[in-house]
Amino acid sequence: MATIDHAVTALRAGELIAFPTETVYGLGANAADADAVARIFALKGRPPDHPLIVHIRAQDQLQQWAADIPPVAARLAAKFWPGPLTLILPRAAHVNTVVTGGQDSIGIRVPAHPIAQQLLGAFGGAIAAPSANRYGRLSPTSAAHVREEFGDAVRIVLDGGESPIGLESTIVACLGNVARLLRPGVITRTQIEQIVGRLAEGGGDAPRAPGDRPQHYAPFTPLELIGGDRIEASAAEFSSGERKIAVLAMRPAARPLTHVTWVDAGAKPANYAHNLYHHLRTLDRLGCTRILVEVPPAREEWSAVLDRLQRASAQDRPVGMDCG
Ligand code: TXA
Ligand code: MG
Repeated sequence: MATIDHAVTALRAGELIAFPTETVYGLGANAADADAVARIFALKGRPPDHPLIVHIRAQDQLQQWAADIPPVAARLAAKFWPGPLTLILPRAAHVNTVVTGGQDSIGIRVPAHPIAQQLLGAFGGAIAAPSANRYGRLSPTSAAHVREEFGDAVRIVLDGGESPIGLESTIVACLGNVARLLRPGVITRTQIEQIVGRLAEGGGDAPRAPGDRPQHYAPFTPLELIGGDRIEASAAEFSSGERKIAVLAMRPAARPLTHVTWVDAGAKPANYAHNLYHHLRTLDRLGCTRILVEVPPAREEWSAVLDRLQRASAQDRPVGMDCG
C-alpha cells in the first residue's frame, strides 16, 4: 500500500499522486513544479485556462502564494481553516500561471483531513490539486473511485477511506476586500456572512468560476431532477417499454415499480452529501436510460447538493463522452 513517504518521493520527482481530503480526493502535484502541474491538466483532460486549487498545510504558508491578502480573507481563513473552504486571492507575483490557469488570482485551501495534513507536513511545499476525476466527471470520494477514473495512470493513491463530507469545498473569492460565493459547499453562505457580512452578488467582474461550464460533476447517464410528488409516476412513465430507470430519492418508493432501481438516500443533508457521488457512480453503471433524482428541499443546508445536481443535469452535456 502507498505510504506518505512514497507520495512525498513521487511529488519531489514531479509525479502525480492522489490523496484524500475531507471533501473529495485530490489529484496532486508539486505546486512549484510547472511541468508536474501541466501533467494534471493533461491527465484530467482539463482545459489549461481552468485554474487549480493550491493546498497548503497552514495559513502561515499563505504569503508564499497570495499577495495583498484582504482582511475579509484573513478572517475567513482564521475561522474555517483547516477545513472545506477555498479562498480565491490575488496571486503572489512569482507564482507560475500554469497553476492559476493564466489568471492573476489563485485558489488556496488548507485541508483538514489527517492524511492530507500529514502529506503536506512531510512534503513541506504546497500541492496543486483538483478533484481526482477526468474533466467534468463526478468527483471521487474513495480511493476506489480514483482507480475507476485513472487506473494505473496514477501510481500512488493514498487511501483514507471515504471522504467524510463528500462534496467539494465552498469557494469564496476575496478580491478587492469584497467576498463573493463562487461555489456552495458544506460551509454555508450564512456561516460566511456571519464572519464577513453580506456577500457580493452576481458575476460582475468575478474571476472564472467553477460554474463556467454548467455540465460538471456529471454521470454518463442522463440525469433529470423531479419533484418528490411526481417520482413514482415519472419512473413508471419512463420505464414503459421495459426501459431501465434509476431513481435517487430521499424516501422509499410508495409502491413497487418494475424496471426501476430505487435508491433511498435519506433526507439528512450531511449523510446525503456524503453518499451522493457514490450513489451516482453506482446508478451510472446499471445501463439505465435515465437517472431521476428527487429535488432536494430549497433550504440552505441543501444548497451545495442542489448545485451539484443541477450541474449534473445540465442539458447541453454530450452523453456518454468523457467531456464537460
Ligand atoms: O474540495 C475541493 O475543493 C477539492 C479538493 C481536492 O480540495 N478540489 C476541487 O478542485 O474541487 P477542482 O479543481 O475540481 O475545483 C476547483 C475549482 C475549479 O472549478 C476552478 O474553476 C476554481 O476552483 N478555481 C480555482 N482557482 C480559481 C481562481 N483563481 N479563480 C476562480 N476560480 C478558481
Ligand atoms: Mg473538480
